[in-house]
Amino acid sequence: MSAVFGSNVLAGKAAYITGGSSGIGFGIAQTFIAQGARVAIQGRNREKLDQAVDALGESALGCAADVRNYEATAAALAGASQKFGAIDILVCGAAGNFPAPVLGMSANGFKAVVDIDLLGTFNTCRAAFEHLRKPGASVISISATHAFQPYAHQAHVCAAKAGVDMLTRVLALEWGGYGVRLNIISPGPVDETEGMKRLAPTEESRRQVMEGVPLKRFAAISEIAGLALFLASDAAAYMTGAVCVIDGGASLAGYRRLGE
Ligand code: COA
Repeated sequence: MSAVFGSNVLAGKAAYITGGSSGIGFGIAQTFIAQGARVAIQGRNREKLDQAVDALGESALGCAADVRNYEATAAALAGASQKFGAIDILVCGAAGNFPAPVLGMSANGFKAVVDIDLLGTFNTCRAAFEHLRKPGASVISISATHAFQPYAHQAHVCAAKAGVDMLTRVLALEWGGYGVRLNIISPGPVDETEGMKRLAPTEESRRQVMEGVPLKRFAAISEIAGLALFLASDAAAYMTGAVCVIDGGASLAGYRRLGE
């Protein structure tokens, strides 16, 4: 990434990442730290969080809280801000998923995913606002192409991510005047993530997913993190409210099977 951006692009910046213990959130934390930022990660599993902080090193701070709980998330953000000062970069990355048809999903199963993805993004942004650097903060929501493309067995995620995109774009309207930018990263299939392990658990299902991607492969987590670095940097200073699709062209082909 430094070949594209130079080094220490985020020197002196403070970032806060929900869902930062694993997958895309953890990859973004690694990239931001490599570029000079201090990074707080929020996760609900204390053990996973501690392991992630150990792996990230001394520039990392762990905040144990469930994004579904507004008070706990607000307290975690206040603690990080007390330690780091104003938050320059906020990444809403906490997400939940399991493949199931609507008829195999209870109301509580649907709600669990909507609460983590959509309510969690609302809670994080709403509670973070007072701690964001104004002007200058960059907020990034990690969405998915589910937001605009229906997938069978993914009703909860499709509904939640559509909400995440619209919420983020409304906030871009409301917070632009404070000098706060909000953008959306919309990944397709990303390798080595919990979500992909659930949606494509076998070699055959992985092959089927890749077949539907024009670039014929999964994304690497580092490629999603590279886009987050761009959106967090001054190079994206005039971007707000943008949906940045990074899916190897997968959504160009329209409907395809996923998680069936
Ligand atoms: N099929 C159908 N229903 C399922 C399910 C599955 N595979 N997995 C969970 N559920 C249902 C549960 O039965 C429960 O509904 P019920 O109370 O009516 O029985 C509901 O979902 C909540 O499950 P629970 O395990 O209590 O919720 P949780 O808050 O602990 O976990 C999930 C949330 C369900 C999203 C869980 O998969 C999770 O923690 N995911 C985080 C990691 C992840 O998904 N990463 C990928 C991100 S893309």
